[in-house]
Amino acid sequence: MKTIGVIGAGQMGAGIAQVSAAAGYRVLLSDVSLDRAEAGKAGIAKQLAKLVEKEKITAEARDATLAGIEPVEDAASMAPCDLVIEAATEREEIKRRIFGSVGLVLRDDAILASNTSSIPITRLAQASPDPARFMGVHFFNPVPVMGLIELIRGLATADETVQAVEAFGRSLGKEIVHANDAPGFIVNRVLMPMLNEACFALGEGVATIRDVDTACKLGLNHPMGPFTLADFIGLDTCLEITRVLFEGTGDPKFRPAPLLMKYVEAGWYGRKTGRGFYDYSGPEPVPTR
Ligand code: 3HC
Repeated sequence: MKTIGVIGAGQMGAGIAQVSAAAGYRVLLSDVSLDRAEAGKAGIAKQLAKLVEKEKITAEARDATLAGIEPVEDAASMAPCDLVIEAATEREEIKRRIFGSVGLVLRDDAILASNTSSIPITRLAQASPDPARFMGVHFFNPVPVMGLIELIRGLATADETVQAVEAFGRSLGKEIVHANDAPGFIVNRVLMPMLNEACFALGEGVATIRDVDTACKLGLNHPMGPFTLADFIGLDTCLEITRVLFEGTGDPKFRPAPLLMKYVEAGWYGRKTGRGFYDYSGPEPVPTR
């Protein structure tokens, strides 16, 4: 594999483009417009500048990584790619539309993968040009820091597809785990019930936001407490994935916490809206309860 296409230049897509280019791949990066793709590249340049400042990488490595990333007009510009990774908004109809336009140009031997965190891979494969050359490749945020990729095969995914994407993931220096196409795969299956349970505990008055976070940080050695992490991921995303677990399994143990639903209804999505379980308007996050 030489050329990687990344569709979606937001936080996840930009992170995937960054680590791919840093590993020596040529990367074509697209979004809804060329401007958005270029803004994604500008964000990567900022991240790389910080790494140079901290002397984690050289100025030459930064330049080489940036030179490897080419913002392109749209998903239909992905013809030269060996592997196209879709990291667009987590909405099925958007992803289906993207697969349609990539399908018009994807080579017969190229692979299409989705970074979806919750949509069933076998179902998404139906909108892809060839389900045998389609699979899930789930990165974690922040992509340059997190050492894991979950690979999810759909019912029709070919062994060669899995092998090629696994080799690609390893070449980025990531550890690979394989998950079956079940709701939440591995990480979100385990993580989201914990975040959801923290919301139940808060709603029942077990403890404050700060104390739940401190308890999990120091008592479990997690880098972030559940409310800090939920705000970091986005409460809308957490709720969406919890709903997928609930609806996908039919098991009431996954029912979303009323407080989580309330925060989402209020538009308090976490860091990205400036308020979630914490208020981010000041110099330090302040718990809202
Ligand atoms: N891009 C690149 N590097 C970043 C970064 C980013 N966005 N954010 C932080 N870093 C780097 C910093 O530069 C720093 O590097 P250094 O140690 O070499 O100097 C290192 O990460 C630590 O960062 P900070 O000192 O700023 O802050 P922390 O020590 O608090 O670490 C964190 C920040 C890495 C985000 C850490 O708190 C953490 O690991 N949190 C948990 C993240 C997590 O669980 N992610 C998974 C979410 S679930 C998911 O993505 C699945 C989806 O489907 C929902």
